[in-house]
Amino acid sequence: MTYKHSKTLDTTKDFILPCRKDQLEAIKDFLPIAKPDFDGSFSTYQQLYGKAGNRIYLVGLGEEKHSAQLENTFQKLAFETQKYWDTSIQVYAEDLTEDEIKKAVIGLEMAQYEIGEFKSKKEKPCKTSVAITTSKNITSIIDEGKHTGKTINKIKGLVDAPPNIKTPEFLGKWAEKSAKKADYKCTVLKHKELKKQGFDAVLSVGKGSVNKPVVIITEYTPKTDKKVDIALVGKGITFDSGGLSIKPSTNLHYMKSDMGGAAVVLGVVELAAKLKLNINIVGIVCSAENAVDAKSYRPGDVINSYSGKTIEIIDTDAEGRLVLADGLSYAVKNIKPEYLIDLATLTGSVVRTLGYEAAGMFTHNTEMACDMSEIGYKVHERVWQLPMFDEYKSDLHSDIADLRNFSGSPLTGATNAAQFLESFIEDHKNWMHLDIAGVSFGASPYAKMKSASGYGIQLITEFIKKKASK
Ligand code: BES
Ligand code: ZN
Ligand code: ZN
Repeated sequence: MTYKHSKTLDTTKDFILPCRKDQLEAIKDFLPIAKPDFDGSFSTYQQLYGKAGNRIYLVGLGEEKHSAQLENTFQKLAFETQKYWDTSIQVYAEDLTEDEIKKAVIGLEMAQYEIGEFKSKKEKPCKTSVAITTSKNITSIIDEGKHTGKTINKIKGLVDAPPNIKTPEFLGKWAEKSAKKADYKCTVLKHKELKKQGFDAVLSVGKGSVNKPVVIITEYTPKTDKKVDIALVGKGITFDSGGLSIKPSTNLHYMKSDMGGAAVVLGVVELAAKLKLNINIVGIVCSAENAVDAKSYRPGDVINSYSGKTIEIIDTDAEGRLVLADGLSYAVKNIKPEYLIDLATLTGSVVRTLGYEAAGMFTHNTEMACDMSEIGYKVHERVWQLPMFDEYKSDLHSDIADLRNFSGSPLTGATNAAQFLESFIEDHKNWMHLDIAGVSFGASPYAKMKSASGYGIQLITEFIKKKASK
């Protein structure tokens, strides 16, 4: 699919006609009949034919509260009808806001996602050229929508990829290729370098796998002042078997998605580079496979970490906080960013708390929490703040090491994980942890099994844009 801007609508050719709930009056001049079976309800569409035999797709924008999810409407329309589209189609956008136009393009592009990448027979890509017609100048908005949609599809592809292919090394190669194409810097630290630099927690988690761990450092720093504005740290467990504290086999295959945080970090840095945002960002991805083997780390082990703090392992399935600990320590020691945000599919506890509707947000910074919350509503990638009261901190106590990776208690799991991470940020004032276990991977109308959602790309990119504009 390609996208362009056009000033006028040709009503003799195919076009998409967006309509707000109960606002048919506003588009009546374009309708071939007075009363179509359509009232503009959110995420509905109705196909009509114009006088020239051209297709007209009425699409329902719904009410104001639906504007944050507008891409769903366009994604659905394109997903279900694009196979009938000709070489070009227009979108009547005169009455759409810039945000709505961006969302429409994101949705159309999201419909191009090919989940069956590993099928021997692939779907043919849609080659339609889309003209967004409005008298306003929207070229950069179209570009932003296109790049955002493409990035979402790319990170969905990564999260849905099978774990035998998507090894830590594969993620490193993905980042190197992306960096070359989008013109940013990428360094992949492999086993020898990780040992030399002291990424002991990452190495411990990866000990049981033939697919060796890596730490990926991506840098997009276009400003003359080299101070890093934002560092993003992502959990990149390419498969989480639980390790020796092995998980039950039901739904174990879904643990290929345990690198959802890493995918967001890789995607956001690529997107920031493509959009040429005026902000210095560093992405750190700590990637390992948590496998079962004679060489695996064990419950009872005491391991070292990049920070120098020792950790008693109570449960090898609490591995995400270990790799993130090293990533966060690396960031505060070497990058010293203004803002520090980590993203991770970290706990089952957050899924039990917030379900599939919001990420768990942990921070002591009220301004960051308010900004992230507001943006979350705006892009429909919502966050919900959970507590980090001092009283919970005793759960991290270990008799024999500096701290332990799990309390053994089934209570306050997402908070315990967040407070574990907090022990490695050296009191950084602008730190936030987002537990995306419930939102990164789930049910979708476009697949029979659970699949990647693309959550986080719009949320973090908008947050970055807000900071870049300050
Ligand atoms: N990767 C899981 C968390 C997870 C659960 C992600 C469900 C996506 C969906 C994580 O590594 C894990 O196993 N966490 C344990 C921690 C526990 C052993 C302290 C959990 O939350 O049960
Ligand atoms: Zn785990
Ligand atoms: Zn995990």
